[in-house]
Amino acid sequence: MTTPWGELELARFPDDPRDRLRAWDASDEYLLQHLAEREEEQGAGLSGTVVVVGDRWGALVTALAAQRPVQITDSFLAQEATRANLDRNSVETGTVHLLTTQDPPPDRIDVLLVRVPKSLALLEDQLLRLAPAVHEGTVVVGTGMVKEIHTSTLQLFERILGPTRTSLARKKARLIFCTPDPSLERPANRWPYSYALPDGIGAVSGRTVVNHAGVFCADRLDIGTRFFLRHLPAGRGARRVVDLGCGNGVVGTAMGLANPEAEVLFVDESFQAVASAEATYTANGVPGHAEFRVGDGLAGVPAGSVDLVLNNPPFHSHQATTDATAWRMFTGARRALRPGGELWVIGNRHLGYHIKLRRLFGNSHLVAGDPKFVVLRAVKR
Ligand SMILES: C[S@@+](CC[C@H](N)C(=O)[O-])C[C@H]1O[C@@H](n2cnc3c(N)ncnc32)[C@H](O)[C@@H]1O
Repeated sequence: MTTPWGELELARFPDDPRDRLRAWDASDEYLLQHLAEREEEQGAGLSGTVVVVGDRWGALVTALAAQRPVQITDSFLAQEATRANLDRNSVETGTVHLLTTQDPPPDRIDVLLVRVPKSLALLEDQLLRLAPAVHEGTVVVGTGMVKEIHTSTLQLFERILGPTRTSLARKKARLIFCTPDPSLERPANRWPYSYALPDGIGAVSGRTVVNHAGVFCADRLDIGTRFFLRHLPAGRGARRVVDLGCGNGVVGTAMGLANPEAEVLFVDESFQAVASAEATYTANGVPGHAEFRVGDGLAGVPAGSVDLVLNNPPFHSHQATTDATAWRMFTGARRALRPGGELWVIGNRHLGYHIKLRRLFGNSHLVAGDPKFVVLRAVKR
């Protein structure tokens, strides 16, 4: 990436040389260009505590490393990418302070740079958490691709921080300028949000589910997840179970309730998701053992150590990326399972997961299906 201060070498995480997707976009470039122009006009760079929220792969904090910024992210993959990108560009560890959306934010913020996240709820929650640290003199600049910035996005800045306007579009990216008004009466933060699950979904029927902002399907049960909950494996006995890509943890909690001897490991790359899963599990007083881990799929789980993996792979985002993620999750499951162990997957029928499972496991069995979804089971031989 060419920045006003020089060239950077950047990659996504996990770094896949076949992956032709860049680790930055025009909205990162536009923001950096704006900051450089501002510096030139004012004859001084950014000063005080610089906070960068939602930096996708660490391009912003790597470019701004001289300001010793604080990065706040919900994504473990983004944090890993940032670490690797800082290293690639010889920025010393510790120059950038890496925080997650679950950490207490800094007390005082002098420059707030926001890469608009995909989830409006996450933006709302983050702005509300950061607002007390923002003062009249805080420079607030948001950035995103034109298609990611809606009236509702601008209204959030306006309602939580103060008067807001946007720049002209440049290479399909746009900036958001906000003038903080500390006297503004901010709305209460509605996150985390809990609701009661419906009946007819097995062990979690009528139970509570807790959702931090930004988790998958945070305000209602996803219809695919609902179908999965109705067809989870039965059977008791001590079993090491992984809820892979756990989101709010409803699937692993259902397994724990149905089978008190189960030890459930909840894994997700989202800090908000893992916090939600822990809260859901605790709220339901599940009797067994559980572990909650933020990470990339099953990385770090010993080979042959798991009896059962339950997975509702991510979809929706960039097709190439999501397909690769499902593939990596299935590959990881095969490695982590003991011989005879099983991977259970829910997916949209049209995604054709059975082809992937057959290639990897040599088998794929249909557990249940409706016109939209299938639950598939693959056995490690
Ligand atoms: C479709 S959601 C399923 C959530 C939950 N299991 C459910 O059924 O409601 C997929 C989840 O996978 C997570 N995810 C995406 N990439 C991941 C990765 N590399 N490692 C772990 N989790 C990941 C997402 O954060 C998301 O919570």
